Amino acid sequence: MPAEIVGLGVAVPPYVLTNADLEELVDTNDQWITERTGIKERRVAGKDDSTALLGKRAAEQAMQVAGIGVDEVDLLIMATATPDYTLPSASCILQLELGMIRGAAMDVIAGCSGFVYALATASQFVDSGAATTALVVGSETLSRISDYTDRGTCILFGDGAGAAVLRKGDAGVRAFSLGADGARSRLLMTPAGGSRFPATSRTVAERRHYIVMEGREVFKGAVTAMAASSLEAIERSGLAPTDIDLVVPHQANQRIIEATARRLKVPMSDVVMNLARYGNTSAASIPIALAEAWEQGQVRPGQTLLLTAFGAGLAWGSAVVDWTLPNPAEPAAEEPTQSALPIVRGLLDGSLWEGADMLPPLRNVPEAAL
Ligand code: COA
Repeated sequence: MPAEIVGLGVAVPPYVLTNADLEELVDTNDQWITERTGIKERRVAGKDDSTALLGKRAAEQAMQVAGIGVDEVDLLIMATATPDYTLPSASCILQLELGMIRGAAMDVIAGCSGFVYALATASQFVDSGAATTALVVGSETLSRISDYTDRGTCILFGDGAGAAVLRKGDAGVRAFSLGADGARSRLLMTPAGGSRFPATSRTVAERRHYIVMEGREVFKGAVTAMAASSLEAIERSGLAPTDIDLVVPHQANQRIIEATARRLKVPMSDVVMNLARYGNTSAASIPIALAEAWEQGQVRPGQTLLLTAFGAGLAWGSAVVDWTLPNPAEPAAEEPTQSALPIVRGLLDGSLWEGADMLPPLRNVPEAAL
């Protein structure tokens, strides 16, 4: 019996960074960004938000839809490239925030393919009976590692989170295909801040803690790998490409998605797109796109979906999912938005963090256990 998706949730920060805002920060313009990427705006987490806190809001929604409490989750997998801390895992910080004191918690780091990797992992636990209820969360605060002085990268990335609850069911995750090629790791990375090149005043002065990318090479690799892994996942599912009703691709770049769809011979009307509003949210992009398309009725019970992603590693992955979750009566009301420009200015000069608490809160810990 496959792992069925029985709950979905999404959370994005209310702060919007438009292409016009970026024109004030770097030498770029709305026309270039729109034509080359398809992105019009992206979200930026506020000072009091974080990868785990965005994940918490998405996870709570997903659990509410599934009709379960956090005490029923026995496996939590967090897919992220921007964990709150390098130690402990983001999933443990999410546990803390959710008040989850039982079950296993781990992170999956596979760049923008993180959600597909995490979904594949969780589905194996559920399918085998090793876990009864899995919570899979893709959450990112890429604004924290985006260099808002580098026009080649900062225009692409945004923040947000999506979550799914998995349980054994009659239909669900049918098949997947995962792949990686570490030989191309230099094409997309954050050079400093890890154990090979820890933080020093020099790494900070040289701005080495931000994403660096060779855009053209990543672009080519993305189209080839997403198309090939999609076809492999479809073949493993026992279906034909024509059986796929809807594709939910990682929202990296409109041209990458269009080129992939052409290779798969899928019309763009059968491809879920929300890139224009959120940019590339890495491991969060597929669950955000999925949850929104489901809320709006584009994803419906009875459909067979193809999820496909590509990113840093390089790592890629695709999954074929039979959809069963009934649509909500109406989409959730949109939160009012504000400009993210003051936050980005605070990220640039560091003033955003003045007075901020560095440590996570101590919660739900009985005094005797301290
Ligand atoms: N605004 C204006 N001009 C820009 C710009 C910006 N934001 N960014 C780059 N340019 C310029 C370059 O400097 C270059 O100018 P030059 O020809 O005078 O040197 C020109 O535009 C072309 O640059 P190039 O990097 O070749 O553009 P591109 O067509 O490859 O588009 C990306 C750049 C980043 C949009 C594109 O490569 C891409 O999307 N790559 C994949 C990125 C991705 O999805 N990464 C995440 C994977 S999950």
